[in-house]
Amino acid sequence: MERAGSFPTVRPRRLRTTPAMRRMVAEHRVHPADLILPAFVREGVGEPVPIATMPGVVQHSLDSLRKAAGEAAEAGVAGIMLFGVPEEEKKDAVGSPGTDPDGILQRGLRAVRAETGDALVVMSDLCLDEVTDHGHCGVLDARGEVDNDATLARYAEMALVQAEAGAQVLGPSGMMDGQVGHVRAALDAAGHRDVSLLAYTVKYASAFYGPFREAVNSSLTGDRKAYQQDPPNAREALRELALDLAEGADLVMVKPGLPYLDILRQIADASPVPVAAYQISGEYAMVEAAAERGWLDRERAIEETLTSFKRAGADLVLTYWATEFARRWGRDGR
Ligand code: PBG
Repeated sequence: MERAGSFPTVRPRRLRTTPAMRRMVAEHRVHPADLILPAFVREGVGEPVPIATMPGVVQHSLDSLRKAAGEAAEAGVAGIMLFGVPEEEKKDAVGSPGTDPDGILQRGLRAVRAETGDALVVMSDLCLDEVTDHGHCGVLDARGEVDNDATLARYAEMALVQAEAGAQVLGPSGMMDGQVGHVRAALDAAGHRDVSLLAYTVKYASAFYGPFREAVNSSLTGDRKAYQQDPPNAREALRELALDLAEGADLVMVKPGLPYLDILRQIADASPVPVAAYQISGEYAMVEAAAERGWLDRERAIEETLTSFKRAGADLVLTYWATEFARRWGRDGR
């Protein structure tokens, strides 16, 4: 039978015919060594406390944190990023638990280092929002606005305390101007030359942080729009990248992930240092909530979102599914 015209002459579908064929030609795949597990450790609890807005994620006790870190290492996850949740009455205007050598984050760091040694890269959040009674990422001036330069002095003190507690990578996440250079200088002056900085280079003021607020018992009432980036803007992401590189960032991050894949691609193309994407609490919660209702296939959705970060150019992904995904990877032998 004669066909009208002679198309198709080229058949891209041939490379999609079988699972083995698709696997062979897959351009991107997620490996456990690409993943970093964000984890919360809460002061004064003997048992892990579930986080209602992030089903499956908990505020760890020191014991359960150690266990989770061991499991992540066992599964082949690359690193862990710790967030501390102090007792409510310890929070104050300057975030004192952040510079207390016995503050919960520092205790968590020591516990994880003791448990996993060098098997897991141990990272800590370098920010004031978890430890201040007003919940902002910095200290406030007389008008109640976040004071950039006074905040840098606090970050420098926190950096030393975290480094002394065993953090190998610090994640300055407050979006203060000059934070990377200021913290780098303080670390170097104290002899912590090998402690790396994972700069939150691009961080947008996002609604998708919502569930995280419960995860850290946030005291924030307003918003962070005066220091985090405005969602409509792309150009300033490259400006932030140039600044962080000049200030000595060892790794850079884009956050949130899914709503900013275009930005991730631009940063990945321009960055000479490794690039991380943070799949944040709201991204996690959306998938979990929809899956709970049976509206999408949970495991496929997780893998598809993680793969999208790799395809957009990320070297590393921070995800609350890190251990689960790494275990499945081992089982399915991707
Ligand atoms: C600030 C910080 C936040 C997150 C990580 N670091 C909250 C914010 O900027 O409001 C959010 C992470 C997530 O939503 O999963 N210390």
